[in-house]
Amino acid sequence: MVREPGTTPFQVDLRRHLREHEEDRDLTRVICEIATASRYVINAIRTGDLGVAGTSNLYGEEQLALDVLSDRILRKRLIHSGVISTIASEETDEIINVNLNGKYSITYDPLDGSSLVDVNLAVGTIIGIYRGDNVLQRGRNMVAAMYILYGPRCTLVYSTGSGVHEFAMNSLMEYTLIQEHVKMQPAGTIYSPGGQRNKYSPGVEKFISSLEAKGSKLRYSGGFVPDINQVLIKGQGIFMYPHLEGAPNGKLRLLYELNPMAFIMEQAGGAASNGRERILDIEPEGIDQRSPVFIGSKEDVAMAEKFIAEFG
Ligand code: AHG
Ligand code: MN
Ligand code: MN
Ligand code: MN
Repeated sequence: MVREPGTTPFQVDLRRHLREHEEDRDLTRVICEIATASRYVINAIRTGDLGVAGTSNLYGEEQLALDVLSDRILRKRLIHSGVISTIASEETDEIINVNLNGKYSITYDPLDGSSLVDVNLAVGTIIGIYRGDNVLQRGRNMVAAMYILYGPRCTLVYSTGSGVHEFAMNSLMEYTLIQEHVKMQPAGTIYSPGGQRNKYSPGVEKFISSLEAKGSKLRYSGGFVPDINQVLIKGQGIFMYPHLEGAPNGKLRLLYELNPMAFIMEQAGGAASNGRERILDIEPEGIDQRSPVFIGSKEDVAMAEKFIAEFG
């Protein structure tokens, strides 16, 4: 797409970019509603209650007031869009049926890394968008995925299947374009290893040693969204939260965290695997399904699969 002469990227806002890249007005509306929701989430993060909500989510994890508030904010804006059929949220026990004639179903993690807010580390919102009313679809059926990263800058990354595009929130709380068609290099020099090293399998252990042998540097914040964003925006490297001793499916959630990020990473020319197969090919069995994940530069992901195939 050739940009009109004289318009610098910062003058292109999210709505205009979507108009240029996406002819489905309903999809544009959903993405813009989510962008609007992020303004309320930011205010909640910056000024809201950091305490516990006294409830737990479908994983039995204690919810923070921010988890519950962010969940409510997103749900309200999505229902307001008028085109949603069903919603599945990491912070809600069951699937929410909004309108059976709705065009899209949504999976989201309203505030990933919420337990990092009280130590002022970056957190994010992760969204997957599907056609129809079934949220238990393979990730490869996604029509769009996006995330919002609440860090020193508030940035939004989206893909509707025509590349990956990054925006930053300006002083008017509008998202303006930073870069289009983010691209991943085939191999990287950073790695982001989740979980506990003493619970890694021999294959994962050997894979990490091979990364260190080639001089890769460890970069890990404990927040999935900033950790993935670092690999994506630097255009190289690998994030992993592998199978662990005692946790064969690792920790991260297929519907709410892995599928949307795998969609975005593949759109940028990267790869995302559970150690054996593409994340986007996994047939979800339940809304609470977890999976190991190796995601980032294609050659690094392929190397992880090779070590796991050989050593487990
Ligand atoms: P959430 O805050 O949505 O529950 O997710 C937290 C996740 C993810 O952000 C991160 O990659 C992972 O937890 C870190 O897990 P460890 O604390 O076990 O490293
Ligand atoms: Mn949580
Ligand atoms: Mn999460
Ligand atoms: Mn969460």
